[in-house]
Amino acid sequence: MSEEIIVVRGNGTLKGEVWVSGAKNSALKLMAATLLGRGKTILHNVPFISDIAIMSEVLTRLGATVERDGHTLIIDTASVDSYKTPYELVSKMRASISVLGPLIGRFGKAHVAMPGGCQIGARKIDMHLVGLEALGVKFDVEHGDLLASTPNGLHGAHVTLSFPSVGATENLLMAAVAAEGKTVIENAAREPEIEDLAQMLISMGAKIEGAGSSIIEIEGVPSESFGPCEHTTVGDRIEAGTFLAGGALMGGPVTVRGIDPSFLRMAIFKLRAMGCDVETGEDWITVSRTKPLVATEIQTLPHPGFPTDLQAQFMLLTARAEGTSVITENVFENRFMFAAELGRMGGDITIEDHHAIVRGVGRLQGAPVSSTDLRAGAALVLAGIDAEGETRVHEIRHIDRGYEDYVGKLASLGADVRRELID
Ligand code: UD1
Repeated sequence: MSEEIIVVRGNGTLKGEVWVSGAKNSALKLMAATLLGRGKTILHNVPFISDIAIMSEVLTRLGATVERDGHTLIIDTASVDSYKTPYELVSKMRASISVLGPLIGRFGKAHVAMPGGCQIGARKIDMHLVGLEALGVKFDVEHGDLLASTPNGLHGAHVTLSFPSVGATENLLMAAVAAEGKTVIENAAREPEIEDLAQMLISMGAKIEGAGSSIIEIEGVPSESFGPCEHTTVGDRIEAGTFLAGGALMGGPVTVRGIDPSFLRMAIFKLRAMGCDVETGEDWITVSRTKPLVATEIQTLPHPGFPTDLQAQFMLLTARAEGTSVITENVFENRFMFAAELGRMGGDITIEDHHAIVRGVGRLQGAPVSSTDLRAGAALVLAGIDAEGETRVHEIRHIDRGYEDYVGKLASLGADVRRELID
């Protein structure tokens, strides 16, 4: 069977300007939120990636129509009459469960297949369920499907999350906007994508205060009063951070445009700590480096802490830094699969529980490697640009899930990288 791979020749070059796409993790939830609007919502700056195609299919199965015009999606949810999302879609993309909240908000019920395990840890949904139960949702599990109902209606409640889960905060938000009375979410996730979602819900008629902070207050409005809206997806801070990591590795300068630098405060702080120069403007960030990279310590944490989605890209930087770095993964268990692949290229990394001890090495060597997940895949391509010789990156479907035209954008920055179909 033929497979598409990315072939990289290490020329050590990444220089110039690149526009980041709209945030995958925002766009997926904005698409789910259109279910509440009962009409034609227009979403701009939606990235052209495979996860978005899956979410389009989820919405289509529910009865919506989804049209694409460049980076704009026109989603008509007026005739949505189903509240069921099957396993074949949830198993392709875990984020399909973000339709749970809006379906409950619209219909008072939902049937969504339970997501299975996932390579980057157990990724349970207990917090989603506990929070929604507090709003009056009753859950049953039948043949792997989660059946949600609201026998006594959906009502506001005070919910304290045991961890600021992004997905749980979003599902709660999208149900609470249509509940009767007031909901307070404490220890809410503070990711910029939550604020983006709240902005869109407000444009649709929701009453929300505090999104982007740890306490979100929602005054429920009747589900029928939501209307469609027009909204522009926020820039992808993880894509931006990936190109910045590449610029830091190769020396740059690399400028990312279409991103609010405040979304990447901790990553910028670490780049500077490792010896890079970083300049920022209203919607751009430039990284360059003239000195060797130096070792550092990184702990992944919920926003505004260092993002787990940039952990692999920064592990690559530490692998090429002078000295020994320690990276601690606090958000997901098992998110160090990248280390073994980088080891194939000459990286010196020891994993101890949720810590990675990374000893900086001289130049990496090109090798055949596999994308173990989306971010690891993106980091392996960067490693290949920096390495001596040729790197062949397999399993690139992971990269296609979240990076629009990754190869084209890297090539525009001077990298020698191409896609190739092999037997
Ligand atoms: C989202 C992002 C993902 C990012 C992550 C953390 C999307 C589509 N994905 O994932 O790219 O890496 O935020 O920034 O937006 N947990 C539970 N029970 C729950 C919910 C979560 O134990 O009910 C655990 C998870 O297993 C994980 C941690 O909490 O260990 C964080 O998960 P969460 O913040 O919910 O991440 P996602 O929304 O799945």
